[in-house]
Amino acid sequence: MARRRQLYEGKAKILFEGPEPGTLVQYFKDDATAFNAQKKGTITGKGVLNNRISEYLMTRLAEIGVPTHFIRRLNMREQLIREVEIIPLEVVVRNVAAGSLSSRLGIPEGQRLPRSIIEYYYKNDQLGDPMVAEEHITCFGWASTQDLDDMVALTLRVNDFLTGLFLGVGITLVDFKLEFGRLWENEEMRIVLADEISPDNCRLWDAKTGEKMDKDRFRRDLGKVEEGYQEVARRLGILPEAGPRDMTGPESMQ
Ligand code: TMP
Repeated sequence: MARRRQLYEGKAKILFEGPEPGTLVQYFKDDATAFNAQKKGTITGKGVLNNRISEYLMTRLAEIGVPTHFIRRLNMREQLIREVEIIPLEVVVRNVAAGSLSSRLGIPEGQRLPRSIIEYYYKNDQLGDPMVAEEHITCFGWASTQDLDDMVALTLRVNDFLTGLFLGVGITLVDFKLEFGRLWENEEMRIVLADEISPDNCRLWDAKTGEKMDKDRFRRDLGKVEEGYQEVARRLGILPEAGPRDMTGPESMQ
């Protein structure tokens, strides 16, 4: 049942043509990958939860004036977004040492950083998303100095806001990855937040116990992966009413 044209299929999402020019439909899959897709699996209900969690966080961010590509959620697995020109960078923010920072620099996982760190990775699967410096970004024209200034300012606001929001529900925002896009409106270009914000691209630890509630449960074979994502949604007050049973249910709602 080809409802509309598929434009792009990524590791966790599919993009379809939207109902109006300048819009797209973003479909959230249950597929999970790690280590540049060397590890593959399925997390039942992940797509439904990430759709909800990302809707919630993007909406809260829009309320404080952070421009995003998000328009509205359409159903259990889909959201309507603005079509943007994706900047080929992954912008990672770290508040606590973990993951590749710990393995690369030998900083023990869990050590709070004296200040937040922003890192850039070049989005290129063939190259394994290598870390890059500002000089590479501007030299190769992936983004201008102005684009970078805008991205850093937005990233710091997102980090401050989300750190507080998650702390309010007993979760430490350890680190996360953002993507940005260029949105053209009447010859004017704005940088807006794109992609998704979910336990797929954040490290979220219980503030008291340090228990992991994010994709590291999958990456590191810790078990109870679905439960981690569900717990994040539950604490944010957005777990679908029928609970976990609803996760694989019919796509449309309301
Ligand atoms: P890292 O410690 O593996 O570099 O990951 C830092 C953060 O970025 C972590 O919250 C997970 C997220 N991330 C992605 O969203 N996509 C990726 O491809 C990678 C490597 C990390």
